[in-house]
Amino acid sequence: MVKAVVFDAYGTLFDIGSLAGACAAVTPETQSFCDLWRQKQLEYTFLVTVLGRYRDFWQITSHALSFALKKHDVKIGASEKQRLLESYLTLPSYDHTEPTLQRLEPFRLAILSNGTPAMLGAVVRHNNLTGYFSHVLSADRVRLYKPHPEVYRLAVDALGVQAADVLFISSNSFDVVGAGSFGFRVAWINRSRAPLDELGIRPDHELQSLVDLPALIA
Ligand code: LAC
Repeated sequence: MVKAVVFDAYGTLFDIGSLAGACAAVTPETQSFCDLWRQKQLEYTFLVTVLGRYRDFWQITSHALSFALKKHDVKIGASEKQRLLESYLTLPSYDHTEPTLQRLEPFRLAILSNGTPAMLGAVVRHNNLTGYFSHVLSADRVRLYKPHPEVYRLAVDALGVQAADVLFISSNSFDVVGAGSFGFRVAWINRSRAPLDELGIRPDHELQSLVDLPALIA
């Protein structure tokens, strides 16, 4: 039985595609720049976790941005870089997020993300979603990143449930693999109809949008 629904943040609840607007201010190669920023951000989380060299997600996001700027040969000042980074604090939620959360209110709802507590607090407040979540959990607590199992364990410990009682919602395929491997039930929000990763760990459900979630749980 599902007792708690736990959400990934970036790309799942909050639209990182919207960073394109901020990126367009610094480069005409907007999409490839934005994609590289995100790709490096995730790659750096994997690297520092494997290497035991944790630094928080704000720093990781900043380092990844520096790489993308260098790769695209974009020279901007510190304040412009700071403005780009701060776009993370005001990312909009995807369409239908709030009505979906309203319909899920009989369940305990939480966020479990790599974001720092300050980043998550800001974006949740910006979208007026604070009241929906009993917990906003950050990987920063264990100084490791998803898909390390200790990060997923934060949710079962905080919520006091078994892994199998959690339905974990993510649009990020590595997170789907990590959460499934940990023992959560997983719904993959596959907005872009991407192919599934080839590690033999499948989500229990695949949806195209958050809007389909309440019907799935009912
Ligand atoms: C997060 C990243 C994976 O929110 O998007 O944890």
